[in-house]
Amino acid sequence: MNRNLISGLFFAALTFGGASLAQETADTVAPEGASEGQVQALTDEVIASLEAKMAGIPVRSDNWMVAAAHPLAVEAGAKVLRAGGSAADAMVAVQVVLGLVEPQSSGLGGGAFLVWYDAATGTLTTLDGRETAPLEANHRLFLDKDGEPLQFFDAVVGGLSVGTPGTPALMEDAHRRWGRSPWPGLFQDGIRLAEEGFLVSPRLASLVEADSERLSRFPATAEYFLPGGEPLQQGQRLMNPDYAETLRVLASDGSAGFYGGEIAAGIVSTVRNAPGNPGVLSGVDLALYQVIEREPVCAAYRSFEVCGIGPPSSGALTVGQILGMLNDYDLAAMGPEDANAWRLIGDASRLAFADRGRYMADHDFVPMPTQGLVDPDYLSERSQLLNTEGALTEVSPGNPEFDHASNWADDVSLELPSTSHISIVDQYGNVLSMTTTIENGFGSRLMTNGFLLNNELTDFSFKTHSNGVPIANRLEPGKRPRSSMSPTIVMQDNAPVLAIGSPGGSRIIGYVAKSIIAWADWDMDVQQALSLPHLVNRFGTYDVEQGTSAEGFLDSLIELGYEVNPRDLTSGLHAIEIGEGLIGGADPRREGIALGE
Ligand code: GLY
Repeated sequence: MNRNLISGLFFAALTFGGASLAQETADTVAPEGASEGQVQALTDEVIASLEAKMAGIPVRSDNWMVAAAHPLAVEAGAKVLRAGGSAADAMVAVQVVLGLVEPQSSGLGGGAFLVWYDAATGTLTTLDGRETAPLEANHRLFLDKDGEPLQFFDAVVGGLSVGTPGTPALMEDAHRRWGRSPWPGLFQDGIRLAEEGFLVSPRLASLVEADSERLSRFPATAEYFLPGGEPLQQGQRLMNPDYAETLRVLASDGSAGFYGGEIAAGIVSTVRNAPGNPGVLSGVDLALYQVIEREPVCAAYRSFEVCGIGPPSSGALTVGQILGMLNDYDLAAMGPEDANAWRLIGDASRLAFADRGRYMADHDFVPMPTQGLVDPDYLSERSQLLNTEGALTEVSPGNPEFDHASNWADDVSLELPSTSHISIVDQYGNVLSMTTTIENGFGSRLMTNGFLLNNELTDFSFKTHSNGVPIANRLEPGKRPRSSMSPTIVMQDNAPVLAIGSPGGSRIIGYVAKSIIAWADWDMDVQQALSLPHLVNRFGTYDVEQGTSAEGFLDSLIELGYEVNPRDLTSGLHAIEIGEGLIGGADPRREGIALGE
């Protein structure tokens, strides 16, 4: 295949979303005006990986593998792994490039959760790098003067929604625990790309265009994303010298150079002086920020243990509840073509989301029945509710075992899709699964020092009480907002067999659960499992991936009693299966790839 055609394939891959993969591939042509630089930007290994993804074939390797949301970020990680670096080292290199080339989804101004399997000790560790609510914030932050919740985007855009970033501290913590390569070298690719420039992808260009009004509200953000008042164009070379400078500080001073000094001052001043919507983040919040090691949450599914991060994420608990309830049903015998399988998956998910809305929040602030929620006996009891002919007519939270008196009202919070997922296996057998975010696409839209600031605080429930009963996920000073991020490592016989995760707001949970079912029950390889069209049910309405074979279920789902909602479902799953060798997959709906050797 010639390189112009391949370049077209790259752009077709990047623009895939709703249209059929086959159609996109058949229509492959070099993008109009494709420059030599665009063509040369693709190395042979990236081309091979893109071809594999477009053909629905997983990538295979013997020693190491990295899968993430943009080829340049994956290449940066691959370079570190090839040179003998660990998965933690590679993650730092991937994250700093993602913050440049996919700035709308994750970066230094956001937070992340990380799951680590350590080959030397055979143990799992989970790290919480979630943002914290500023100490000057209070539970009324997102209420208007009449005590009514603000409109979502009135809260998101500006300083009010910005929590203390956790990603730089998480990168440093992971490197300190598990790094093998010198810290400064991990920033080299990010610095080079920020200084020399990178080509704006079609996805970034289209998201900038769609969000241009909000991005135009703040001068630093507008100058970067809307130079000369016009949205960035696909294929345009974009440089970010401020980001390069920030990376140089991090490389030389570590996270201390981020949580103090000029970068910290820039963050605080940007948040507190945001025109129209100033926030309350302070230098004290930044100085006090800590990564927290959490107890992993694991749920039994078939012969596997599905493990991830506990509260403040609801991810592992909710994925674990869905799978735990389905343990009693033979999905393998039903197969992916049976509408009854999707009834069971959809209603298990609804029951899990009912528990999530009632019980799940930052358990450093509210008591939570964490173990009770994934207790096999409790889930087996809940799963009996699924033993019906049609869709459940009533869904309410259960009563997991809990040694603490509690009376919570159901959560009211809106989570829109954004975020990014990184899966890495290194040559030493360590496995990393990390989901990373600035929350909404382009976060708070505030930019400082070359990166965007998160709007993570809008993951709290805006309402604090319902009928006088408090909501567990309400905002409190220092608290971490509940997340849906579900970085997962699936274990079998005490060894890791799959690393997986996705962006997608609260649909992350459905994307990850479906992919594990497709892989574990329906014998699909990781690429097939990720590519399988989505059907996601959180609160009753069945979201069905538009323009895919999933639409074939619309009539059956309506007959079963569901309201259906055909729509784009832009997950960004990245997964690596660990067996004799490594088998990687990347979501065809987004820009990412898997590379290995
Ligand atoms: N803000 C996305 C999540 O944490 O789930």
